[in-house]
Amino acid sequence: MSLRISVIGTGYLGAVHAVCMAELGYTVVGIDVDEEKVAALSRGQAPFYEPGLDDLLAKHHDTGRLTFTTDFAAAKNADVHFVCVGTPQRRDGLAADMRYVEAAVDALAPHLDAECLVVGKSTVPVGTAAALAERLAKTAPVGAGAELAWNPEFLREGFAVQDTLRPDRLVFGVTSAEAEQKLREVYARTIADGTPVIVSDLATSELVKVSANAFLATKISFINAMAEIAEVAGADVTKLADAIGHDARIGRKFLNAGIGFGGGCLPKDIRAFMARAGELGASHSLAFLAEVDAINLRRRQYVVDLTRELVGGSVANKRVAVLGAAFKPQSDDVRDSPALNIAGQLHLQGARVSVYDPKATANARKIFPTLPYADSAVEACRDASIVLHLTEWQEFRDLDPAELAGIVETPIVVDGRNCLDADAWRAAGWTYRGLGRP
Ligand code: UDX
Repeated sequence: MSLRISVIGTGYLGAVHAVCMAELGYTVVGIDVDEEKVAALSRGQAPFYEPGLDDLLAKHHDTGRLTFTTDFAAAKNADVHFVCVGTPQRRDGLAADMRYVEAAVDALAPHLDAECLVVGKSTVPVGTAAALAERLAKTAPVGAGAELAWNPEFLREGFAVQDTLRPDRLVFGVTSAEAEQKLREVYARTIADGTPVIVSDLATSELVKVSANAFLATKISFINAMAEIAEVAGADVTKLADAIGHDARIGRKFLNAGIGFGGGCLPKDIRAFMARAGELGASHSLAFLAEVDAINLRRRQYVVDLTRELVGGSVANKRVAVLGAAFKPQSDDVRDSPALNIAGQLHLQGARVSVYDPKATANARKIFPTLPYADSAVEACRDASIVLHLTEWQEFRDLDPAELAGIVETPIVVDGRNCLDADAWRAAGWTYRGLGRP
């Protein structure tokens, strides 16, 4: 009989995971405490923008293999339960807020009266899984028959469906051969397609995820530090990145300098990692991550300062067009978005900001309702004293700089992602400023 799967938490991670499990042929129930999210998913609608997700939701809405509910009792008969809830930064410090993970396990446990595997996918501080395993064994009616494993998720928003169905690697943190076997069964098709599997203890599997994100964040802050140097030395950081990226040991990916990283993962994950290292008495090992964070946050400040300088010393009452609100393209996610942060800072300094994003306006409006939003790039740019390109949507790369020059008041553009065609914009009469490039 085909496996029955429950997925607890239907956010960016869980909704995609549930859909992909149905795509692998399993009977899946997605469970969330958010009634609105469950209602949308039950209608076959994704509650956020993620390419490819709507199609698969509709497909498995029709196959009947995928259902959503707020009732944890629906998980009762599943063989494998995936915990996919969020671990945001705590309000009172750098550490991860574990209350959703704990609540998910506590809500699930009373329904586990037959042997099953509970698999954590959320990004958690090392040591969490071992503690949860004990908690589960104490609270589930089946006791130690509800086994815990960890299977970290590495998906990138915007590519979440493909990253889930065809991941670079699978990591199974397990405490028994049976748990490993069950996970190999769940991912049989993915493994048959050639995806490598790394089997480890629970602690290693938890660390793999946070260390991967720490490495990626470090790579971005490294190139942004080089952008700072290039800026003062009159060099070009994009050429530098191309050149060092040809070294296979370095690689070109994640070497795009600009306004830095944001989103629901990298910023809070490096902070939670530092906090956990401190608890373990090893703060010195991750002290460099504080610098990675500081370099990253400096990028936002730098663009605000540059904007002020380019419009003559004060942004008060100046029209500033902001192209992009999402933390990256192909996503409507505005959590810790550098673009929105910059727009907000300028707004608070008295600028007449107009923000446009192809997908993220509704979410941006929710967390920053006082910012003015436009319905198109052209509308945002009308009569602007300066244009800031902050999220690299293809739509912005496709803009005609000549046409736009006729709409703005002053043709000055700051390319916060270093990916507009500088020559084309200059040829159309613009003052073009990249970050760390001439
Ligand atoms: C990240 C990890 O990539 C993923 O493996 C993990 O599971 C979750 O966190 P995500 O947050 O979706 O995924 O975005 P990612 O593509 O990693 O980009 C993160 C941020 O870095 C974005 O704000 C992006 O604009 C920025 N970035 C990325 C750069 O500034 N320069 C780069 O070269 C690459």
